[in-house]
Amino acid sequence: MHALDTSALDPTRLPRHVAVIMDGNGRWAQRRGLSRIEGHRRGKDSVRAVVETARRLGIPYLSLFAFSTENWARPPREVNALMALLRRYLRTEVKRLMKNEVQVRAIGDLERLPDAVRRELEHVVELTRDNSRLIVGLCVSYGGREDILRAARRLAREAQAGALDPEAIDAQRFADALGTGDIPDPDLLIRTSGEMRISNFFLWQLAYTELYVTDLLWPDFREQAFVDALVHYQQRERRFGLTGKQQAQGRAGAAR
Ligand code: FPP
Repeated sequence: MHALDTSALDPTRLPRHVAVIMDGNGRWAQRRGLSRIEGHRRGKDSVRAVVETARRLGIPYLSLFAFSTENWARPPREVNALMALLRRYLRTEVKRLMKNEVQVRAIGDLERLPDAVRRELEHVVELTRDNSRLIVGLCVSYGGREDILRAARRLAREAQAGALDPEAIDAQRFADALGTGDIPDPDLLIRTSGEMRISNFFLWQLAYTELYVTDLLWPDFREQAFVDALVHYQQRERRFGLTGKQQAQGRAGAAR
């Protein structure tokens, strides 16, 4: 960690929220003649590396796509191993998370998780709730469409009960009803292992997010790779649908 080169990074222009699709554990293992599960085990170490680097740099929000709704269809042996790994991660990591003042939030359909995993997750969420240095959104049993559907149902129920005027549902209100709640939209999405897909991750939240895809497989994505992704992000011009000139004028206006 001490060899981390952050010299190309502008500490005043860090993203507020980085979201990550952690892909390639299986391929990493297969290339070495190991079981896919061994790949996930190594992937757990990359989770620690990225969490601690985000914390060290002062990035306030990090979201990790740990298990998708589609992942339930994988062979039961692999699903069980992933669940066991998640539980072990929570159990062994909680001390470091507390020491680093990291808050964990669980995002997704927690009802589908095995009881032991759900309990562990709820325990860590509860224990870390007052930490505020870094907020880590652990997306488990998560699907972007399911998230949107759940929000729509929730708002429809409120409207039906007469507690909400349908005309009052604007983008902010809708975003608040999503699993990400009051977490700001991601500024940067990192996807490892080269695939150019969103894979039903944050569909609503990624509307204006910068996308960064690296060929590195997740178990190989460690501290320096994360810093490199941030450097790439800082080289982008973000326009939010405006012209470059308008965007520059807006920035100058905001600075005044
Ligand atoms: C994708 O690799 C990764 C996953 C499905 C799970 C991500 C899980 C971890 C990083 C470990 C445990 C998580 C935490 C939060 C401790 P893949 O299996 O799809 O790889 P492939 O595309 O090469 O097959």
